[in-house]
Amino acid sequence: MTARIIDGKIIAAELRARVAGEVARVVREHGITPGLAVVLVGSDPASEIYVRSKHKQTQAAGMASFEHVLPVDVAQDDLLALIARLNRDPVVHGILVQLPLPKSVDTETIINAIDPAKDVDGLHPNNAGRLAGGFAALSPCTPLGCIILSKSVHASLQGMNAIVIGRSNLVGRPLVQLLLNENATVTIAHSRSRELAQLCARADLVYAAVGKPEMVRGDWIKPGATVIDVGINRLPGADGKTRLVGDVAFQEALNVAGAITPVPGVGQMTVACLLVNTLRAACAIHGLPKPGV
Ligand code: GUN
Repeated sequence: MTARIIDGKIIAAELRARVAGEVARVVREHGITPGLAVVLVGSDPASEIYVRSKHKQTQAAGMASFEHVLPVDVAQDDLLALIARLNRDPVVHGILVQLPLPKSVDTETIINAIDPAKDVDGLHPNNAGRLAGGFAALSPCTPLGCIILSKSVHASLQGMNAIVIGRSNLVGRPLVQLLLNENATVTIAHSRSRELAQLCARADLVYAAVGKPEMVRGDWIKPGATVIDVGINRLPGADGKTRLVGDVAFQEALNVAGAITPVPGVGQMTVACLLVNTLRAACAIHGLPKPGV
């Protein structure tokens, strides 16, 4: 049997349309236009593509988009001064500093400087801690997207066996917390875990976010499981071009899984969830009720 393909593009487009509807309502009823500031340091080509996509989609949702591009050799104090200005700016409700940052700046110092109320990446320790404590928090966008994709297959994740492979602050760790909030049973695995194949074989939900090309093999997967592959790895192809592969051996998994994301399958969801977080941050900052998305 061939797995059903989980179409992140369509699900993200539906989510963006719902965000746009709620943004229009907030503008109409309260005169507030949610605003997102994205800070890009340097000119990493992949980061530039993400930032451009965020800019376009933010505007398409009816929100204000502010882009700040700084040179790769920016002084840390100048970056901190920009963040302080954005923290104070009343038209900015969300601040995202594109990662990875150059080695000359300390990522932790930069993230800690963002006002937690505007931390739409959910990376500030206040938000990460609140999420881990089970309190309301702005949560990282890729894990939020993973949950929505999972719920497009299963109305409820309650009691399901989930495995999260990868423990990054951006994906693995927050995803574990969100799955716990959904009452899933969660195994946390990573590149050093022993007997990963056996751990994986028990999982109804497999989340691969470890950054190792095609590490998860088809015969690791329980027949009928749902597989969400967050990995985007560039490998040299036979024809000299680069080949995009996930953390899951897609062709193998396709014949075993019940549902699976293609590669890249989650990126559009990340951006759509960023719009959700910006709308939620704007409503919270202005004391409005939580929006309907
Ligand atoms: N780089 C890759 N993904 C992300 C993300 O979700 N947020 C930020 N800030 N940087 C990223």
